[in-house]
Amino acid sequence: SIPLFPTVGSYREWRRRAYDQKKSVGFVATMGALHEGHLLLVRRSLAENDLTVLSIFVNPAQFAPHEDLATYPRTLPRDLELLSTLSVSGRSPAAVFVPTVSEMYPSGIVQSVDQQKGTFVEVKGYGHQMEGRTRPTFFRGVATVVTKLFNVIEPTRTYFGQKDIQQALLLRRMTRDLLLSHPEPENLFIVPTARDPKTSLALSSRNAYLSDHEREKAAPALYAALDAAKSAWEAGAPKVECISRAQAVVEQKKAELGDSVDLRLDYIEMNDPETFDELDAGTSRADWEAEREGRPLIISGAMYVGKTRLIDNVVVGAR
Ligand code: PAJ
Repeated sequence: SIPLFPTVGSYREWRRRAYDQKKSVGFVATMGALHEGHLLLVRRSLAENDLTVLSIFVNPAQFAPHEDLATYPRTLPRDLELLSTLSVSGRSPAAVFVPTVSEMYPSGIVQSVDQQKGTFVEVKGYGHQMEGRTRPTFFRGVATVVTKLFNVIEPTRTYFGQKDIQQALLLRRMTRDLLLSHPEPENLFIVPTARDPKTSLALSSRNAYLSDHEREKAAPALYAALDAAKSAWEAGAPKVECISRAQAVVEQKKAELGDSVDLRLDYIEMNDPETFDELDAGTSRADWEAEREGRPLIISGAMYVGKTRLIDNVVVGAR
């Protein structure tokens, strides 16, 4: 079975041996409730590194007081079982870091940002758009815990999912800004989103909150909405029209499902992947390409199915 490290000290001993043996260490940070999306990152790490380490830690600092910290799915035995069956080119995960909250937050942690004490990491200017609009303290919690995790794990390479595109890009920027060497910024890789093959629904630990009906009939509307915005964009429509096409997809799904499901679109946004600037209403693909010289564009969104908040994105024009 895979060695589990509940403390920083015990992991560091293991890491020292990996240094002595000059082995590369690939790292996948997770909050557990593992699914095929997480496993995609792990497989990539197994293929590219001598040793692969995961962390499983439900990070309190990234949940606002009203969010789902208490109910977030915790399935450690099942997660470990899944990992033990994984093998790529004869390699399996070599270690799992499973710290307690007090191990990760020696100064303590409370949900309310106003009452927090201790050290936090903030990536200024990149955390208030898209996901940050609805979750204003989310990226502060993510940047803080990932800095700590990088300091413990000391990864050669690390892998994040496109599913959380803003998170991955913000962490790459943080790695650069803080002059980190483990990992070097160019060794932070972004892996494409794993989707349900039938409905294209992005896999997510939060999908576990949904009933079968919600998951199969309602949740896929988010990706369908993003895809409609993408088609409109590619056909030359200005941003406002792309967004209203996306909204129409969700409205139509709502009408179709009636009272059986409570669907609510949180936002659809279109942003520059470098600056996270939101596009002006009138900007169309031709303007964008002339202005930003072929830079891709993120179309992202969040949608509530009942109380469950789902996110997804597509990147258009990526080379
Ligand atoms: P979690 O939601 O568990 O996701 C862990 C990693 O898996 C993230 O990099 C996420 O983008 C990736 N992932 C999730 N679903 C995916 C999918 N369908 N396809 C591809 N990748 C997917 O993201 C977090 O945890 C936390 O914020 C964390 C970075 C661990 C910090 O606490």
